[in-house]
Amino acid sequence: MNITKIRVCEASAGAQTAFPEGCGFCATPNRADSANIPVMAILKIARMGHPVLRGKAETVADPTAPEIRQLAADMIETMEDYGGTGLAAPQVHVPKRVVVFRVTEGRLTGRPLDTPQDLTVIINPVIEPIGAEQEQDWEGCLSVPGLRGAVPRFVKIRYRGLDLFGKPIDRVAEGFHARVLQHECDHLDGILYPQRMSDLSLLVYNEEGARHPVDLGQARDKAAE
Ligand code: NI
Repeated sequence: MNITKIRVCEASAGAQTAFPEGCGFCATPNRADSANIPVMAILKIARMGHPVLRGKAETVADPTAPEIRQLAADMIETMEDYGGTGLAAPQVHVPKRVVVFRVTEGRLTGRPLDTPQDLTVIINPVIEPIGAEQEQDWEGCLSVPGLRGAVPRFVKIRYRGLDLFGKPIDRVAEGFHARVLQHECDHLDGILYPQRMSDLSLLVYNEEGARHPVDLGQARDKAAE
């Protein structure tokens, strides 16, 4: 007997916070005919060297399409499982311009517009730097496991895109929030963070970075000499 079930967010609890009127996955007919088959999936992450990470991702024609909603749901579950801050669709072998991210308190820089952000799905995002100021800080990437690097990024940006309902997202961000967007949007253009680094001596294994901390202020002064 085929019974189409209507999902009510239980598997995407984290997503509810991003959509006050509903998580964006509600009322999606379950793709399975049994509640015992999971609706969301943890996807395999592409690692540096896979060509999908070097290509330019395609613009999404219809952000409300069921396959985009499913992709976003799977990306969220994958990001949560790996403990990431953000994830771009090429990282799960899908060359489309879709990004999921959240910004938590832990790494905020103290700048006024660097504030926590609920779980967000943004489609066809576009970034516009505000001002020329850049700063260097540490980044990691699920596609470059085990490493971290000091990457210069614009301090302040405006970013725009669409949500899963096709509604506009238009935000100004600073600090870590701005950094996350720049990192994730680079994935859509086939760029990994080491390609943005100005000093590759600051590409380190996480364990060594923890044992031998680098003061980026000093590193910046040295680089400027
Ligand atoms: Ni990344």
